[in-house]
Amino acid sequence: MRKKLSKILVTGGAGFIGSAFVRLLLGKDTSLFTNAGTPSYPNDGCSIFCRKSVSELVVVDKLTYAGDLRRLKEVKGRYKFYRADICDGRFMEAIFKKERPDIVVHFAAESHVDRSIHDATAFIQTNVIGTQVLLDLSRRYEAERFCHVSTDEVYGDIVKGSFSESSPLKPNSPYAASKAAADLLIKSYVRTYNLPAVIIRPCNNYGPWQYPEKLIPVVINRALQNKKVPVYAKGLNVREWLYVSDCANGILFLLEKARAGEVYNLGSGHRQENIDVVKRILNILGKPDILIEFVKDRLGHDWRYSLDSSKVKNLGWRQGVSFASGIKMTVDWNIKNRNWLMDKAAQA
Ligand SMILES: NC(=O)c1ccc[n+]([C@@H]2O[C@H](COP(=O)([O-])OP(=O)(O)OC[C@H]3O[C@@H](n4cnc5c(N)ncnc54)[C@H](O)[C@@H]3O)[C@@H](O)[C@H]2O)c1
Repeated sequence: MRKKLSKILVTGGAGFIGSAFVRLLLGKDTSLFTNAGTPSYPNDGCSIFCRKSVSELVVVDKLTYAGDLRRLKEVKGRYKFYRADICDGRFMEAIFKKERPDIVVHFAAESHVDRSIHDATAFIQTNVIGTQVLLDLSRRYEAERFCHVSTDEVYGDIVKGSFSESSPLKPNSPYAASKAAADLLIKSYVRTYNLPAVIIRPCNNYGPWQYPEKLIPVVINRALQNKKVPVYAKGLNVREWLYVSDCANGILFLLEKARAGEVYNLGSGHRQENIDVVKRILNILGKPDILIEFVKDRLGHDWRYSLDSSKVKNLGWRQGVSFASGIKMTVDWNIKNRNWLMDKAAQA
């Protein structure tokens, strides 16, 4: 019989990926299912958690501009929620003391590169100091597993080939540097205190509920209103795209399969120039390419991301959603939830 996982504390559970993970844990991620209604996942982890009680899933989120509990409306009442800043050591200690989580899955972060270029303060605070607070508490309250959701951006960019988990960390943006700093801190806790931590480095995510400051929802939102769609430089930068429920599923998979102290890349292998992604969305929406407006490049813009994900694949994980169907589902979701999209875009 599979060993049951125990009480889980999820930070950043009201965010884009964290909420997909919470919905997956609670068995309510409808976007896991294809149009035919068949589960598209070879390694659906729902069975572990579906019938567990509310008290076993604790979500901690500060609800910054990026956090929104509407992402969790389908599972309302089935998790315990604390509105808390992970940098607030006292409050976080009270939570750990009361909840005694066995597993900590750490998504909470400032996550937008452009904002970090404008001002890195909150990035260092949350992504580095906040992570250190969680590491100390996980150590002192003896969590069985600390799982950091890092990013492929810690490796910097690569012109040809792919990054493996042993590639050096060469972050280029303040965001990526703050995530790399957190990764190094975690490695030090593994070595010094034997903390059973795992670092997961996903590639770019897309899917339902993504805040419209990131490329794909920005394009959808603006195109729906027939507004110009801004694209950095000539749009030739390459990103690797992973559907958000595949990312959530991969993280859950690794909670069971990963070895403590190890790093795992989590990529789809689907790499594409930004301009092609933008044109594809316009095509799905039936909008003309003349909406595209090339704008001044992002400072220090990473050229190409590419992950070698053979380590997680050798353990048996496979992505379930192709880019073709994922992007269609994402566009459809945003059309259906246009009020949410426009509401968020107005604040962005
Ligand atoms: N989105 C991507 O493409 C992507 C790719 C790779 C890795 N990641 C990583 O995955 C994680 C989740 O990314 P996302 O896109 O869901 O981010 P997001 O910005 O959508 O969500 C972040 C969440 O963290 C919360 N938060 C921020 N600061 C906090 C604090 N001090 N205390 C408590 N909560 C706080 C926010 O309220 C929000 O709910 C991040 O760690 C990010 O670095 C994201």
